[in-house]
Amino acid sequence: MNNGLALTPQMGWNSWNHFQCDINETLIKDTADAMVSTGLATLGYQYINLDDCWGELNRDSQGNLAPKASTFPSGIKDLADYVHSKGLKLGIYSDAGTLTCSNRMPGSLDHEEQDAKTFASWGVDYLKYDNCANTGTSPKERYPKMSKALLNSGRTIFFSLCEWGHEDPATWAPSIGNSWRTTGDIEDNWHSMTSIADENDKWASYAGPGGWNDPDMLEIGNGGMTTEEYRSHFSIWALVKAPLLIGCDLRSMNDVTFELLSNKEVIAVNQDKLGVQGKKVKKDGDDEVWAGPLSYNRVALLLLNRGSSNSNITTYWTDIGFNSSTIVDVRDLWLHSTQSEVQGQFSAQVDSHACKMYVLTPH
Ligand code: GAL
Repeated sequence: MNNGLALTPQMGWNSWNHFQCDINETLIKDTADAMVSTGLATLGYQYINLDDCWGELNRDSQGNLAPKASTFPSGIKDLADYVHSKGLKLGIYSDAGTLTCSNRMPGSLDHEEQDAKTFASWGVDYLKYDNCANTGTSPKERYPKMSKALLNSGRTIFFSLCEWGHEDPATWAPSIGNSWRTTGDIEDNWHSMTSIADENDKWASYAGPGGWNDPDMLEIGNGGMTTEEYRSHFSIWALVKAPLLIGCDLRSMNDVTFELLSNKEVIAVNQDKLGVQGKKVKKDGDDEVWAGPLSYNRVALLLLNRGSSNSNITTYWTDIGFNSSTIVDVRDLWLHSTQSEVQGQFSAQVDSHACKMYVLTPH
């Protein structure tokens, strides 16, 4: 979408995966504080995004969406001012139907211009736009209306489509949105995370600066996967240029969660200016090789073991876009160590449900 945003995938936090409807303004302010005090903000995580349940069930007397008085008594403008004062941006949520997915708020269908203006007047920077209660019409009719309304709103607002991949949004959303969900909701377990990665992989060629495939938000720190599974989750999301939207409670994040989310070298792959989505390039049973090009002729490489015992995974240069004769340095992004002068192929021992992630730099 041509609004100058999303030149690299968006990074930030969203309330849904951890809190669902249990949100309020204190939580959001504390999360903004934590984003800054932990140092995650400086690493690029800039959006603080409200999901469903921030508003009243009924519009106000002027027909405007209204923040829920019991949980957001100071209003969204005040919250946006607070988030902006921390150097961060505020995201909000609505729905391309008559009700949001929780059934607890009105949707924006047929109120697109009015709601976009409301969001702009509050200083909102990002809209996630869901697909419930959609009256059965195609998202291809409903989502462009909001895209246009945001462009007319007088404020530059990131547009995140969430129609769950129903009508192959990768094929039509790049001109109207900055990201589009390609799948149903992620669950905090290995099976869900890896199958979503597979579904999202099909659409790799449609992503690029301005618009990204969205395999849903991160579950790291929510407790349903092991550390190695979460490391794989973060590594895959980074390699495939997915939005990096943290979904845990930032106020009580432990050291392991922080270590995963704050790996600068992995984040740099996600935010690489070339903006090409990495893909699964080879599969041998449970052993997978994922790779994609980076700027300066480098290649990002992920060796992923989906099986239940450890495995030695090999990749050959011709699978990942190098000539066999090319000599590269191999940088391990999790061990932070470099092996120089590697030629033709590379192998590593990978534990069950774990991965190894590298950047290969040709000489
Ligand atoms: C779903 C959406 C989730 C979350 C939820 C809120 O449709 O995919 O990410 O926003 O609605 O009710």
